[in-house]
Amino acid sequence: MKPVGKVLCATGIIAGVLVFFWKDSFNPESLSGARVLLTGASAGIGEQMAYHYARFGAEIVLTARREAVLQKVVEKCLTLGAKKIFYIPADMSSPSEPEKVVQFAVQKLGGLDYVVLNHIGMTRFQMWDGDVEYTRWLMQVNFFSYVALTTAALPILERDKGSLVVVSSLIGKIPTPFTTSYSATKFALDGFFSSLRHELVMQKRNISITLCILGLIDTDTALENIRGKVLHLTASPASEAALAIISGSATQVQEVFYPWWLQHVCYLWVLFPCNRDQVLRSYYNYSSL
Ligand SMILES: NC(=O)c1ccc[n+]([C@@H]2O[C@H](COP(=O)([O-])OP(=O)(O)OC[C@H]3O[C@@H](n4cnc5c(N)ncnc54)[C@H](OP(=O)(O)O)[C@@H]3O)[C@@H](O)[C@H]2O)c1
Repeated sequence: MKPVGKVLCATGIIAGVLVFFWKDSFNPESLSGARVLLTGASAGIGEQMAYHYARFGAEIVLTARREAVLQKVVEKCLTLGAKKIFYIPADMSSPSEPEKVVQFAVQKLGGLDYVVLNHIGMTRFQMWDGDVEYTRWLMQVNFFSYVALTTAALPILERDKGSLVVVSSLIGKIPTPFTTSYSATKFALDGFFSSLRHELVMQKRNISITLCILGLIDTDTALENIRGKVLHLTASPASEAALAIISGSATQVQEVFYPWWLQHVCYLWVLFPCNRDQVLRSYYNYSSL
């Protein structure tokens, strides 16, 4: 067997053993009464997270831009068992909104156990077209607003021994074509929050940070974006992705990978730099753009 084959075989065996012996330490009861601020909660993975938190009996503040849609999510959360639930419409492209949202959540819930940063601005899936203003805007929505929300929430999270949950993407670990600006915002999240995690540990401040690395998920916006452009990829269910984020952050792991095997994709990416870009590009339909 070639050396590459041996390494792949060994990685597969180790992964299999880990999965076999893996014990899920997540206790859903730990979320009963937990105070959660959740962004991007009107659709997709954020909406599914709202329903899971509601089922677990959490106290929740939801935010996104569309008030009417948030109201519908709130109604469903109440039927599912949310202990308390509020919403605040906010556009994260406005630099003043993050602080307002955190203040609202603290006022309504009296504290914060989880701040789940999940929203994203409209993502263009296309070749770089030189639109610097769009990249600046997307950085504001996908990155700077995360930093501002975190800055406003840190003192409360420290007091309440809470957790920051940052939803990112495989595209924030492995750059892919047609995602220049989006990929940049997700790499920025990894850099900022992985550095901040070190600093919190060094200062013995009791706040955990979980960075969530997701693959393709079957949300309407993601499927619409990639239609006809990405080949041979199956989207995973948003509800399962949402649960993986919630359980991983409740057990305070540093990084959640969903699906789980993405972690091995990241290892292989680093271990085998030769030909990896060529293999990656074969998943993309260039002629459709
Ligand atoms: N779906 C995937 O394949 C995939 C893969 C990897 C990672 N992820 C990550 O998972 C997270 C959720 O993705 P998703 O697919 O569930 O997205 P989505 O379905 O497009 O939902 C995005 C959410 O963000 C809100 N939003 C959009 N613009 C906003 C703004 N300017 N200010 C405040 N809120 C805004 C939207 O609500 P309003 O329109 O009401 O504002 C919505 O609730 C993102 O961080 C994404 O990067 C997703």
